[in-house]
Amino acid sequence: KSHEYVRIVDVSVRDGLQNERGFVPTEIKCELLDRLTRTGLEAIEATSFVSPKWVPQLADARKVMGHIKRAHSASKIRFPVLVPNKGGLESARAAGATEIAVFASASEGFSRKNINCSIEESLRRYKEVCLLALQYGMKVRGYVSCVIACPYDGHTPPENVLRVSQSLLDMGCFEISLGDTIGVGTPATIGILLNYLLKTIPSHSLAGHFHDTYGQGVANVVKALEMGIRTFDASVGGLGGCPFAKGATGNVAMEDVLYCLHSMGFKTGVNLEMVADIGDWISKTLARNNSSRCGTALVNR
Ligand code: HMG
Ligand code: MG
Repeated sequence: KSHEYVRIVDVSVRDGLQNERGFVPTEIKCELLDRLTRTGLEAIEATSFVSPKWVPQLADARKVMGHIKRAHSASKIRFPVLVPNKGGLESARAAGATEIAVFASASEGFSRKNINCSIEESLRRYKEVCLLALQYGMKVRGYVSCVIACPYDGHTPPENVLRVSQSLLDMGCFEISLGDTIGVGTPATIGILLNYLLKTIPSHSLAGHFHDTYGQGVANVVKALEMGIRTFDASVGGLGGCPFAKGATGNVAMEDVLYCLHSMGFKTGVNLEMVADIGDWISKTLARNNSSRCGTALVNR
């Protein structure tokens, strides 16, 4: 694919719904997935095989994967799922997943709150998970959270992001999604981080996962684009947030990202009008405000 192509990874159903106050019925998750499959997206994160005690919102992971197997097995779309340990990997595999994402943190505080272990312990676990997953023929994506700052430890030194990212790449992750979990990054701080990482890691091995808490999501995408990054995670209507990162709001809205990218001449293959309709539909369905400015503007035209 050309230099002008930007890959959008949808995280609406996973990051988007894991933080909703109430449990979103499985049928609505499946309808959201079905609608997203028609927009041209090539990767839609489906769910997480994590402890239902920790994330009750995604306790229906097996059912959601069952639906994907039934409805979309012929599709070329990838449906990665989050996996925190070997048990999660086996459950994901049994449910038909062919791609997983492991998720580590660049900060100790968030690692403990999110996955109940230190960074080192998580990397030990993920090494085993990756080895097995690769043997199973699965693709593995790596997330690194708190790449700019941590709600518990404050500022994150870029060296820590590099160390964790490099470890995950060494385990066989095909890409590292850099999570600004609490959305505090700006083009200035994202620039400093990328400048540091890109001395060691090629741009095609990195993706941006920007939460929009401080309204910097699109600006950060543009900054990362200018520095060569071509993969971004986003959610319709700006859904999302992490239950273990207090005050963190949703992911950067896909509508806003698409509007910006398309006007810059980048191709995404994703239909903005359809995405805006989905953002409108899911916001109404969940009785929440549509956080996408672009989506709101488009549906009110
Ligand atoms: P733990 O309590 O230390 O685990 O949790 P454990 O091994 O001691 O097991 C405790 C219980 O959980 C046991 O059940 C296990 O069977 C069960 P019990 O005996 O008490 O009935 N369990 C599981 N059940 C289902 N699937 C599993 C699983 N593993 C254990 N895979 C653990 C450790 C990692 C499991 C837990 O902390 C957890 O599930 N954490 C998930 C946290 C999470 O999903 N966070 C949100 C995703 S990360 C994110 O949003 C950031 C990201 O978007 C990027 C960014 O924005 O930065 C990716
Ligand atoms: Mg996130």
